Amino acid sequence: MSFDSMWATLEQVGRHPGSGGYRRYAWTEEDAILREWFTGEAAARGLDLVEDRVGNQWAWWGDPDAAAEAGRAGVVVGSHLDSVPDGGAFDGPLGVISAFAAVDTLRAAGFVPDRPVAVVNFIDEEGARFGVACSGSRLLTGVLDATRALSLIDGDGVSMAEALARAGRRTDHLGPDPEALRRIGAFVELHVEQGRGLVDAEQAVAVASSIWPHGRWRLDLEGEANHAGTTRLDDRRDPMLALAEVITTARHAAHEHSCVATIGKVTVAPNAVNAIPSRVTAWLDARGPDESGVRAVVAEVATASGGVSEESWTNSTAFDPDLRDRLVSVLGGVPMLATGAGHDAGILAAAGIPTAMLFVRNPTGVSHSPAEHAERADCLAGVDALSKVIADLAGPDRL
Ligand code: GLV
Ligand code: MN
Ligand code: MN
Repeated sequence: MSFDSMWATLEQVGRHPGSGGYRRYAWTEEDAILREWFTGEAAARGLDLVEDRVGNQWAWWGDPDAAAEAGRAGVVVGSHLDSVPDGGAFDGPLGVISAFAAVDTLRAAGFVPDRPVAVVNFIDEEGARFGVACSGSRLLTGVLDATRALSLIDGDGVSMAEALARAGRRTDHLGPDPEALRRIGAFVELHVEQGRGLVDAEQAVAVASSIWPHGRWRLDLEGEANHAGTTRLDDRRDPMLALAEVITTARHAAHEHSCVATIGKVTVAPNAVNAIPSRVTAWLDARGPDESGVRAVVAEVATASGGVSEESWTNSTAFDPDLRDRLVSVLGGVPMLATGAGHDAGILAAAGIPTAMLFVRNPTGVSHSPAEHAERADCLAGVDALSKVIADLAGPDRL
């Protein structure tokens, strides 16, 4: 139950022996193991496990409904346990493990919360399986429509509705859960930093200031399948060539508008070494400090590719300034960092919930890769910071 033992247990789950990265996707076998682990950690601490209508897991210390009724809604900490394909060990799990460890630290110190405290595990933050990031918090808050979510299809042609059914879950009550939201007085997500801001600042922990606006778009490029050896260059309709031009356009447009743009996922039909493809589908991820820049990048890519369809969009998030400043002060003046990464914290903030984030130094600066890292001492500094934040927010007469 220590930080180290929780880490050692989770380290085993969903790691691909070849790449060394994690493959933990929503409503799969690996996800079920992670959810069972969460249930076990809650039970071991005598926390009450509640699942909302979406399947996000909440482990409550104290009665959240009575407290919300009395105007003392709870302090929620946690993150997610799923990963991108061949992701690192820290993105998500560090926040959940640190949350349980912070509860342990507070209890060992004899802290008695004045309002309930919960650890949360949001389902499907990365959107690796069905394409929409943060589907757990988006469904919870109602910004993702349940009918649309249920019809999303994974790479094997399985819909979210089928995946839920296979995981033994109901699909008929998927949707916004105001009761679950009402229990949250504040949400604080601790996360590994996904850049080198803290390395440069020579600090272990920072508070988030904002999240860049970001989105995902799908591009369908049509061509004509034909023989790789007998089709003259002039006679080809090769969508792979079109994709190459689109990728170059995305890169130039991102540079021009001070944004970032990535085409990191592509499917090719028929995907044969000796056939010109008939069709290429690619996904654009574009982000930047302001929406107009991101939209300009997407417009240029749309022109180059003959059109794009938006699969998700997240507005810029400015975290609650009072909560943010309070965290900085409780932690003795740690730095503030903006990020280009999306988080459930951004979705909750957009829903009007007082929300903040803590970042823990990542010496490689790399994320969404097995090279993602945080030193043990920095992880423990993160737990210490989170404990102080919970003690402040859930202590007497606070919030
Ligand atoms: C989630 O990690 C994202 O920023 O895509
Ligand atoms: Mn991530
Ligand atoms: Mn994450």
